[in-house]
Amino acid sequence: MNKAAILTSDFSQRVRAGFARRAAHYDSQARLQQAVAWRLAHWCRDLPLLAGPVADLGSGSGLLSRALMRHWTALAGQPPLQLDHCPSLLALNPLLASALPAPQRLWDLNDGLPIELAQAALLASSFALHWLDDPVGQLAGWCDRLAPGGWLLLAVPTAGSFSQWRQAATAAAVPCTALDLPEAAALLAAIGDRGLRPHRQDLLRFSQAGPDGLASLRQLKAIGAGTSRQAPLSPGQWRRLRTHWPSPGGLSWEVLLVLARSEPCA
Ligand SMILES: C[S@@+](CC[C@H](N)C(=O)[O-])C[C@H]1O[C@@H](n2cnc3c(N)ncnc32)[C@H](O)[C@@H]1O
Repeated sequence: MNKAAILTSDFSQRVRAGFARRAAHYDSQARLQQAVAWRLAHWCRDLPLLAGPVADLGSGSGLLSRALMRHWTALAGQPPLQLDHCPSLLALNPLLASALPAPQRLWDLNDGLPIELAQAALLASSFALHWLDDPVGQLAGWCDRLAPGGWLLLAVPTAGSFSQWRQAATAAAVPCTALDLPEAAALLAAIGDRGLRPHRQDLLRFSQAGPDGLASLRQLKAIGAGTSRQAPLSPGQWRRLRTHWPSPGGLSWEVLLVLARSEPCA
């Protein structure tokens, strides 16, 4: 294995360990993810759905799937495949123990999609794509797996997020340890290039209030989403970051929401 591949798999393992450590707290703390899942589900409520594979990619505890099952009539109570690389989050996913248990797949999305998701009727994913090594390339691969008439339903934080964090790091002259997030335009271009037609899309801004910058970063850690590709800051660097965090504290997110369809056969 070459050095780049080793670093890649190391990051994926650290992401998984981060979510595993906080798995028991995910549902009670993931308020933004919950709100976005419900918004996506409302978009879908009256849409038709083909027969074929239906999956929630990076499903975690199943927030998005549960919202879809509640609101999307055409799903008819059928749980999507719960695909994730974190066994601890999957173990807490209530859909796996429901009357009609959801199928599950322990899978690293950096390896593309499993074979059973060919000709998919729905590939849904919320707050997972940005953890992958090549979000734009993987998204293009997801689009290619849809059957004609199949739906892509996506929410992903994008490059306009965390402006306060970047500003504070620059002012404090310390490295910014935020994840590099994909550009919304690049994601939309990948979807268009694969021949999908946008049905709905939004680039939303959310602000999470907090007494200071570090409290905002603790909100990320509370759901296990604190893993960084950068080396951790020293205590002194953290103090400088906190001092330079713009006032009022808080953290803003830019989140791309997309519902797009693969062109149905004529
Ligand atoms: C912030 S959580 C979102 C979970 C869920 N989709 C939601 O909206 O609540 C990110 C999820 O992506 C999963 N994930 C991150 N990297 C992954 C990878 N390489 N392969 C599969 N799942 C991954 C994590 O295990 C976690 O469940």
